[in-house]
Order: sequence, then C-alpha cells, then structure tokens
Amino acid sequence: MLKVSASALRDDFFVVPPPSLPRIVELHQVNAAEDAARLLAGLLAADARTDPKFFYDAQGCALFDAICHLDEYHPTRIEAAIFRDVRAAIAREIGREFPAGYQWVDLGCGDAAKSRDWLASIAPRRYVGVDIAADWLRPAVARIAEAYPDVEAIGVVADLAAPLSLAPVLDEMPEAPLFFYPGSSIGNFEPQRAIAMLKALRQLGGGRGGLLIGVDCESDPQRLEAAYDDALGLTAAFNRNVLRVANRLLGADFDSRAFAHRAWYNEIDSRVEMHLVARSAQTVRFRQPHPAERDYEAGEVIVTEYSCKYTPARFAALLDAAGFRRQRTWQDPAQRFAVVLATG
Ligand code: AVI
Repeated sequence: MLKVSASALRDDFFVVPPPSLPRIVELHQVNAAEDAARLLAGLLAADARTDPKFFYDAQGCALFDAICHLDEYHPTRIEAAIFRDVRAAIAREIGREFPAGYQWVDLGCGDAAKSRDWLASIAPRRYVGVDIAADWLRPAVARIAEAYPDVEAIGVVADLAAPLSLAPVLDEMPEAPLFFYPGSSIGNFEPQRAIAMLKALRQLGGGRGGLLIGVDCESDPQRLEAAYDDALGLTAAFNRNVLRVANRLLGADFDSRAFAHRAWYNEIDSRVEMHLVARSAQTVRFRQPHPAERDYEAGEVIVTEYSCKYTPARFAALLDAAGFRRQRTWQDPAQRFAVVLATG
C-alpha cells in the first residue's frame, strides 16, 4: 500500500492550485413532467411519433457515438475530412468576416471534440458550449479551458429543440456570435422548423453574426439507407432504445423486440425516415404521467426520426429565407456532404 505523509499531501495541495471550474449557465431546466407528457402524447396519437431528442439517454448517446464510427455512416467521416482539408481556408474566411473578433458558439457541443480541433486554427474571443446535457457540458468546457487558456470558455445548458434564448449570455460581450453547428443535426428538423431555428440564430447575431454548419446532402438512396440500417444493427438498437426510454419515463411496457427497425429514403421529401414497425398486434400500457393504453396494429408505424438531406442549392435557399446573405460552401469530391459558412 502506498503511504503518503501528511506533509507531502499538504505540499501537493499548495503547489498545484485547484483548476478553476468553468462557468455554466442554466437556461434550461429539465422539465421531466413536460417531457413525459409530450412523449406520451406522441405515442398515443393516431400517427404515432416520438421526438428524436428521446433517443439520447446515456445508452442512446453511446450507441450514437458507435454509429459515427461505422463504415456505412458517412456524415461524421466526410465532415471531418472536409474540415481537415479546408480548415485553413475557412479559418482565413472567418478572419476576414470577423476582423473585430467573435464568440464561437458550439451548438450541441457534446464532448466539444470538434471545436477543440477548430480552436487550434482560429482565435475566438470566447468559447460558448451549448448542450442540453449538463453533466457532459462541465467536463467538455473544462477541457477547452485547459487546452486553450487564452480563450474564455463557458457552458450554457439549453435545449436546441426549443426556442433559443442565448441573448443574455451573448450580449455580455460586444463580439458577434459565430455559431458552429456540425454533424448535419439541422437535418433532424423539418425544413420549416430548420428555417425558424436558422432565423433565430441570425437574429441573435443581429446581422453581424455567422454560422458554420455541416449538412448531409442528397445522394444515392441505397447508400443513404445503408447509413441508417447498418449491417451490425447498431442503428436498429439506437432506434429501439427509444422504447426503453419510454418504458422508463412513462412506466410503459413496450417490448422492444416486438418492433422492427425500418429506415427508408423518402425521395419526395428528400429525407431518411426511421420508423419502428409493430411486428404483431399488441397493447401497450402507460402508467404516467396518467394511466393510458394504446393498441398497435400489426405493421403499424411509430415515426422516430426524419433526417433531411439537401442539395447545396436547396440549403442555400433555407439560409436565404433565414436572412443569411453571404454564403460559401465546401464539399467532398463525391459531393455527399457540405460545409457552409454563412454570414450577414
Ligand atoms: C444526430 N443526427 C444528425 C443523426 C442523423 O444522421 O440524422 C442521428 C442518427 N440517426 C440515425 N443515425 C444517426
């Protein structure tokens, strides 16, 4: 057993100052009752549906992380390649657009790994990590603060699926926000909601801000479907996990094996749709927030996610509708993914 004298411990304590904890601002209080009510309403509706945010409990986050490493799931890999190949050009462009400095606002920052790579090439006045998961936010922001001591790093707990209320934090500084929204997460909002969110970002920037965003593009339907229905079945597990979340939040008795995973590319609406399909007729009981029961017919569908895909021109139209006037787009050689810097 290692023995340490009391004086050695005291010396250590005084020689190494405790790291200062990053500031975390809580703009979002988890309202479990409201979440449960929304989830239940979606599952009881005639066209049953769940919001993608219910995928992401600890197990769902771990599964999504694993999905990002799959051969079939291209967005993470291609986006990383574009960032690597054109980072210097984008950094120059950012320098030109924001000569007076800016706040780098990392939307849905997770572990902030993508921003950590960026901060080596750019020098924002402040890093603002935004995520709904308060427990992840603190260590993520602390890692940024440690790696980049010259950049003020703060965290904001906020729900990106709700109207964004970041103004009190961003207005603390004169520098405009440059929002960083990678991973094609914008695709999980239907176009009208995506425009509303982009408009809110533009408003927060007051016409001086910007957005660096990753967007998955329309491409070969078969490869898109494989990206959401991989051979190992990780995406199927990720999809079915929402039923476990429902069991926990709603005291429900879903049998996740009684539902099949389905992912298909809807060419009319340019989106991959993820469904859970009842394998047989079944009755599911819910205990909270109020007792309820729902019969699912054999073959009946619960829609769990849309992942909208864009051509660069269609996405440019979305940005236009949101008021972003200047845009530059970078793509991979196969044009399966786009990175866009929008300002104005
Ligand atoms: C988080 N989001 C961008 C992913 C996507 O591709 O729509 C979620 C996902 N769903 C299945 N696989 C990945």
